[in-house]
This record gives sequence, C-alpha cells and structure tokens, in this order.
Amino acid sequence: MTREGLRERIAKMTLEEKAAMCSGADFWHTEAVERLGIPAMMVSDGPHGLRKQDQEADNLGVNDSIRAVCFPAGCGTAASFNRELIREMGEALGEECQAEGVGVILGPAVNIKRSPLCGRNFEYYSEDPYVASEMAGALICGIQSKNVGTSIKHFLANNQEHRRMSSSSEIDERTLREIYLAAFEGAVRKQKPWTVMCSYNRINGVYAAQNKEMLTDVLRGEWGFDGFVVSDWGAVNDRVPDLEAGLDLEMPSSGGVNDQLIVEAVRDGRLKEEVLDEAVERILNIVYRFEENRDKTAVFDRDKDHELARKVAEETCVLLKNEDGVLPLKEQAKVAFIGKYAAKPRYQGGGSSHINSHKVTAAWDCVKGLGTVTYAEGFRDDVDETDEALLKEAVESAEQAEAAVIFAGLPDAFESEGFDRAHMRMPECQNELIRRVAAVQPNTIVVLHNGSPVEMPWADQVKGILEAYLGGQAVGAAVADILYGRVNPSGKLPESFPYQLEDNPSYLYYQGEGDRVEYREGVFVGYRYYDKKKMAVRFPFGFGLSYTTFAYSEPKLSAQRIKDTDTVTLRVDVTNTGDRAGKETVQLYVSAPDSRVIRPVRELRGFEKVELAPGETKMVSFVLDKRAFAYWNTDIHDWYAESGRYLLQVGSSSRDIVVEQEVYVESTAKLPRHYTMDTPFGDLMDDPEAMELLKPLMKIDFLEKKEDGDTTDAAAEAITAEMKEAMMKYMPLRGTFSFASGGVTPQQVREALDKLNG
Ligand code: BGC
Repeated sequence: MTREGLRERIAKMTLEEKAAMCSGADFWHTEAVERLGIPAMMVSDGPHGLRKQDQEADNLGVNDSIRAVCFPAGCGTAASFNRELIREMGEALGEECQAEGVGVILGPAVNIKRSPLCGRNFEYYSEDPYVASEMAGALICGIQSKNVGTSIKHFLANNQEHRRMSSSSEIDERTLREIYLAAFEGAVRKQKPWTVMCSYNRINGVYAAQNKEMLTDVLRGEWGFDGFVVSDWGAVNDRVPDLEAGLDLEMPSSGGVNDQLIVEAVRDGRLKEEVLDEAVERILNIVYRFEENRDKTAVFDRDKDHELARKVAEETCVLLKNEDGVLPLKEQAKVAFIGKYAAKPRYQGGGSSHINSHKVTAAWDCVKGLGTVTYAEGFRDDVDETDEALLKEAVESAEQAEAAVIFAGLPDAFESEGFDRAHMRMPECQNELIRRVAAVQPNTIVVLHNGSPVEMPWADQVKGILEAYLGGQAVGAAVADILYGRVNPSGKLPESFPYQLEDNPSYLYYQGEGDRVEYREGVFVGYRYYDKKKMAVRFPFGFGLSYTTFAYSEPKLSAQRIKDTDTVTLRVDVTNTGDRAGKETVQLYVSAPDSRVIRPVRELRGFEKVELAPGETKMVSFVLDKRAFAYWNTDIHDWYAESGRYLLQVGSSSRDIVVEQEVYVESTAKLPRHYTMDTPFGDLMDDPEAMELLKPLMKIDFLEKKEDGDTTDAAAEAITAEMKEAMMKYMPLRGTFSFASGGVTPQQVREALDKLNG
C-alpha cells in the first residue's frame, strides 16, 4: 500500500484504535480493525524452523506447535560460512511461512557469543560481529525474498540469560559500535529486515524498549531501518516513553492496559499524536506488505525441507581433529557407535525456538543396516553420574571393534533460553565414558552435540573430533555421511574453543553484580582477546578440517596505497591439492600493526566459501573499504581509519594465516585537535602542522637536524639527541619552555595552539 493510502486509513482510525494497533491482539497476532478492513498479521518463532502455535500459546516452548522442520540452529548455520546455502534455508522458511499464513518469523538472533555460558548461545551465531551479521543477513535475504518478514533480535546486548529482564549491559561506546551493534548493523543496512526485536535488558542503564539512542538515532537515523520495532515478549517497561523512544509494537499484549496509557497521554498532551501515528504507519506498512504479497500457491513441503535441513547440516559440522586420517571410516569396518545421541541426537535447544519436528534422523538410523556397526547407549543424560552397566557394555563394544564413535555433548537441561550454563564442562559421566573407551580403542572419534564450546579434557586421547553443533532434525544423516566420507566436512568454527572457561575474556565479569554487568573486556571478545594475549586455545576461531587439502597463491592487490575514500581489491587463488572434492572458507583478516590505539591483532573483514574439485583452482576476491581498516573513534563518534600500514592476511583460520599483503591507507578525515599547555610535546611532534608552527617559535635544539659532517663526534651526539627527544616526548608543552632557547612567550605559544585547534 502506498504511503498516502496508509495515511488515509490511519486518519480514519480513532485514537483508541491506533493505540490498540501498537500492541498484540493476542500472543501471536497484531490487531485487526474490521470496520476499516485492516487485517491482522500473524508472527511466529523462529529462527531455525516454524514454531506456529494454534492453541495454547507461550513464548517459552512449553506448549505444542504445528509439526515443522527443524533446521540447524544459529550456532551451526554460522559454522557453514556459506551465505548461499543459508539464503536457501531462508527461502524454505519463507515458503513455509507463506503456506502457513505467518507474516513475520521471529529471528535471526545475532547476539554476540560473549561467553560460552550464555544459555541461548545455540541460537546465536558467533563471537565475531562480521560473521553474525553476514550469516544472519543471508537468512534474512532468503526469507524476505518470499515476501515474509524477519525480526532480527535481540536488540541489543542480550548476551546472557541470567537476569535477562532486569540486567544492564554496561558497555563503552567503542565496544558497542565495534562488537555489539556491528552484529546487527551489516544485516540491517544490507538486508533491510522488516522488523527488529528489542531485548529485555537495559543498555547502559536504559531499557532496550526505551532506548531512543538505539531504537531511533542509531537504527533508523544512521542505518536507515524503515520497518517496525517489536518488543521481545513482555519487554515493554513503560509504555508511553517506550513509544516515544521508537518501540512501535508491544508483544504479546497488555490486555489493553498499556493502550489506555497511550490514549490518556495523547489526551493530556503528554504524547504527540504524530508519534503514535508514525508507529501505526510503520506497523501497517508491514502488515500490508505481507497481506498484498500473499502466495496462495505456497506449500509447506516437510519432506523436501527435511532434505534441505540435511544439506545445511552437512556444512555446519566442523571437523576439529583427524589424527592419522582416522576419518573417514570404511563402510566395511567394524565400528562401535556409542552414546545416547547416536540413536537420539540432541539437535536443538530449549525455549521459544523449540520446534515440533516432523521427523528426526539419527546417525544410528543411517548405519544400522551396515551389519558391521554396533550400538551401545553408553550414558544417561538425565544424571551426571556414570551408569556402570552402560559404561561396561560400551567399553566392551569398543574393544571388539576397529573404531569407536562416541556421540556426546550437552544434555537438554544444560542449554536453554531463560538461564545460563553453570560451567563449560560436559557431564562427568560422558567425559569418563570417552576416557574409558579411548583407553581400549585407539581409533576413537567423538561427535559433539552442543550449541557452544565445551571443555574437552580427553581431546588428546581421541583421534577424531567432529563438532556437529545443534544441527537440526536431519543432523544424524549428515553426521553419518561425514563419518563415512560421502560428504567432505567443510564447517569452520564461528567461535574460539578455549581450553577452559577461565580463559575466556569475559570470565571475570560475566553475569555481573546484581543487575550491573560490565563488559570490561571491551572489544577483546573471543579471538580478539586470545590473539592479543598470544594464548593457546583448544581450537581457534575460523578453524575446521577437510578430507582434502588446499593451497593459497600470493594475493594480488589492486593498489599498494589508497585513500580512505577508495576501495582496494585483494585477489587470491585457492587450489584443492588433495584427491577429493571439498570446500574451503577463505578468510581475510585485517591487522593494523602501527595503530596508535589499542586494537585487536587482527579482525575478520571478509570470507568466501569455494567448492573445488581435486586439482581445481578458483580465484577469490575481496573488496575492502574504509570500514575494513577503521576503528570507532570516540572523539568524532565515527569510524576512523588512521593513516598507516595495514596487513591483509589471508588464511584458513585466525591462527593459520597463509599469505599476506601490505597496503598503505591515507586518512582524509581530520580529527579535532584539543591542544593545551598540558599536551605532551610528543603529541605535537607527531603532527606536522603543529611542528611547522611551533618549531620556529621554540628553537629546541634536538629538533635541529644535524647535516652529515656537521659534528665532530656524530655517534655521541646522535644518542644524546635521541635520549633528549625521548625525554621531551612526555613533557607537557608548558614544561618545554625551560629547554627552548629563543625567548618565546607563553602567549605566542597559546596563539599558535588556538590556531591549530581551529
Ligand atoms: C524470546 C524471543 C521470542 C519470543 C516469542 C521470548 O521469550 O526471547 O526470542 O521470539 O519470546 O516467543
């Protein structure tokens, strides 16, 4: 509907009708206005399947929903690093929504995985904002191509479940921009989600629902978001100020109480009616966008989507260890499948994203026909203690086989919406099982089902580790195909796996004190921290093995030197040097070795996944603009790329940089100067314009360059000059008068400073 059309309709609505439009009619629908022919729109969770509830509604995954298809959760889809594939998954979800009459699917969820403990990590994508934003963006692109909306969530800084409805995420400006906002920014700017869901928590003291800076200034003002903002279910804290801050739709509904507050505020003159009108317009714009683009031919083909879920799962598994090429297994080998999750995979997490799967494929279902494979349950996942009988049976089966595959991971009760994990360990009974099996079976492989890193005290005792994440309802088939080499694994870790929880940068501050959670590690989240600390990790960010090998050529740059207003293109050839087809995710990191600010060693600025036949070579190219080099400068409140050298590092993980090139970037932006008499002299020495003005005034001897042959004892003089310079660097300008010969007055210097400060 055109803007005019919408406005005409809104003009006909009563104040009460408009206020009611700003909250849900029920748990999953917007209000309809029958007398004006305004339809209601249904929304549903999300994000990795359709959780459409027909009857008993709830947002915690307690009651049933229609039978649907559970795709891999965010943790896994991120690991695929395959935008094209995730876009396809989005198209399927969009088609399902069209078939079911759902106008907006509530996801993707892109909150940064700050700590391995966050209860909803399985829904989230990455510790890196670029990965989160790109992969969520691909999903949004796919879903919305079917004229169904998305709701990127939870905006903002909902990085823990502990006290999620009251806690305040205390984050400095630069960290907010570079890490937490950035996870949303790329997806919002590029893919234009129809809606954004604000989170429950507060950001620097202000509830997300009431955060004008975030909901209006940043989201709409800077990023151009033109959809509506919906509250997380029950996140509205103070309806009228929330509306003014930019929160359009309250969900689920306040039973009319908050609508009444809006009406009264307009009547009293406390709230401008235009604010309400704008919110209604944003909501109806989306309602009609869906209504006018209904696809009556759409079908929810569950079996077809199951096959797609399998295809996605194949790329979300990450091969972490493959000593002596223990994988792939031979079809005829005698293999002991061990562990409950072989027969009943753990493939999704608990809470609002919980899907009522129409079928589930277990790895054991796919191999039991082979005749050479046995199954033993191994452990119970409702207790932490070892069940001796199950353990004994498992160890015996392993002893009699040529290889053992243990399906382990986190039980349902460990990972869910609503609470965080208490530690990073797997249940002790599973660790014990792995150790005991590995003691009798040298060819032991562990398959993991979990949404976030776990400690692996047994990692050195097993030959193979396959991280299957929470891979959706077809995960078993994908895992079986990878184990037997029918599929070559190609997932990469979208997060670092530290050795232990205590290594994680947020460890000291996570969950905070009471409702105050300080993000004191700043921008040093995940690999940004481990790399800076040169710390060993169990498995680094971006890591994942293949059954084949890849080689990289020397990269070529389109320019050696650019201005920050230009772009530079890097091209690199990747070759499959092994003997089977495979996919490699080429990663591009940017490092600013000469930066004057505290920055991570390297940051991911690009990735491309390529499929290569044996011997095949393909060229991958990356185009980098200012943003790839920039940090958030809190002086100008903007992105700033310092003039200087940058390294463009290409590799197959954050810890495996294979080739690099150097580019010089020249900044065209001017930072404001704040020179005073207290400014250390060194700062002025770094500023050519400042020196031009001050040098003639101050006649400081070490600044006078000696010509060759000028001195009698050149070496001694040089050292003296350097030492003097080093000492002077930290001296405030006012102090340098004692060293400056030439009778300059403070007044003259002040005038020069004023001129410089502009
Ligand atoms: C969750 C959201 C979800 C909503 C509706 C909330 O509890 O935080 O992610 O979309 O419920 O189910």
